[in-house]
Amino acid sequence: MSNIQGKVVVITGASSGIGEATAKKLASKGAKLVLAARRLDRLEQLQKEIQDSGGVAIYQVTDVTSNEQMEALAQLALTQFGKIDVLVNNAGIMPHSLLYKKHIDEWNQMIDVNIKGVLYGIAAVLPSMRERKEGHVINLSSVAGHVVGAGSTVYAGTKFAVRAISEGLRKEELGNNIRVTIISPGAVATELPNSITDMDLKPGILEAYKGAIDAESIASAIAFAIEQPSNVAINEMLIRPTHQER
Ligand SMILES: NC(=O)c1ccc[n+]([C@@H]2O[C@H](COP(=O)([O-])OP(=O)(O)OC[C@H]3O[C@@H](n4cnc5c(N)ncnc54)[C@H](OP(=O)(O)O)[C@@H]3O)[C@@H](O)[C@H]2O)c1
Repeated sequence: MSNIQGKVVVITGASSGIGEATAKKLASKGAKLVLAARRLDRLEQLQKEIQDSGGVAIYQVTDVTSNEQMEALAQLALTQFGKIDVLVNNAGIMPHSLLYKKHIDEWNQMIDVNIKGVLYGIAAVLPSMRERKEGHVINLSSVAGHVVGAGSTVYAGTKFAVRAISEGLRKEELGNNIRVTIISPGAVATELPNSITDMDLKPGILEAYKGAIDAESIASAIAFAIEQPSNVAINEMLIRPTHQER
C-alpha cells in the first residue's frame, strides 16, 4: 500500500498547473485532498474530476494572502478529516519585470502571495502537526530560489525567502517529527508566465518556456517526497527540463 493512502493533504494554488496536477496524482494514490485557490469554478471542476475517478476531495475558496482564510482552510481540513498530514504551499505568482520600471504593486503582490502566503500556511498547520508529532510541509520554491536573473529579481527574492523559511522550519520542527521539503522547479508548462506585464521581458520568457516540462513531472516529485517513510525527509529537489541551462 502506498504511504500516501489515507493521508490528508492541503494544497494551495490547486486551481491550475502544478497544484492541480499534484491533486490528481495524490488522489490517484489514495490521499484525501483539501483544495484551495481563488477560482471557484476551477476548484469545483477539479473536485468533480477527482470524485469521478474514485478519489476524495473537498475545496474552499481561499486567498493565501489572508491569514484568516488560511486558518479557516486548516480548520476545514481538521473538521472534515480530523488531521492534516501534508501541506503543499504551492500558490505563487511570477510577474517578472525590470526594477527601474517600478511595478511596485506587482512586487507587493509577489511578497504577499509567495512569502506571506507560505508563512500563513505554515502557521495554520503547525499547531495540529506539533500536537500529533507528525506532519510534512512542502514549499514550492524555484530554480529562481538559487539563481537570480535580470528581470526575475523580486520573484527570485521571494523564492530565496521560501528556501530560508523552509530551512528554519526544518530546524525548529525536526524534534516534532515534521518533515520539510523544498521543491524547486525550472520551466514548467503552466499558466504562471501569464502574470507578466513587462512586454520587454514576456516574449523572451515565453520563448524559453517552449522547452518547459509538464506539471505532472513536479507532481511525481511531490508524491515521491510524501511516500518516503516518516524518518526519511527529502529536503529539496531541483527539477529542470534536461535542456535548461540555468
Ligand atoms: N511553472 C513554472 O515554471 C514554475 C517554476 C518554478 C516554480 N514554480 C512555482 O510553482 C508554484 C505553482 O505555479 P504554477 O506553475 O502551477 O502556476 P499557475 O498555473 O499559475 O498556478 C498558480 C496557482 O496559484 C494560485 N494563486 C495565485 N494567487 C493566489 C492567491 N492570492 N491565493 C490563493 N491562490 C493563489 C492560482 O489560483 P487562483 O488564481 O485560482 O487563486 C493557481 O492555482 C508557484 O509557487 C510557482 O512560483 C513554477
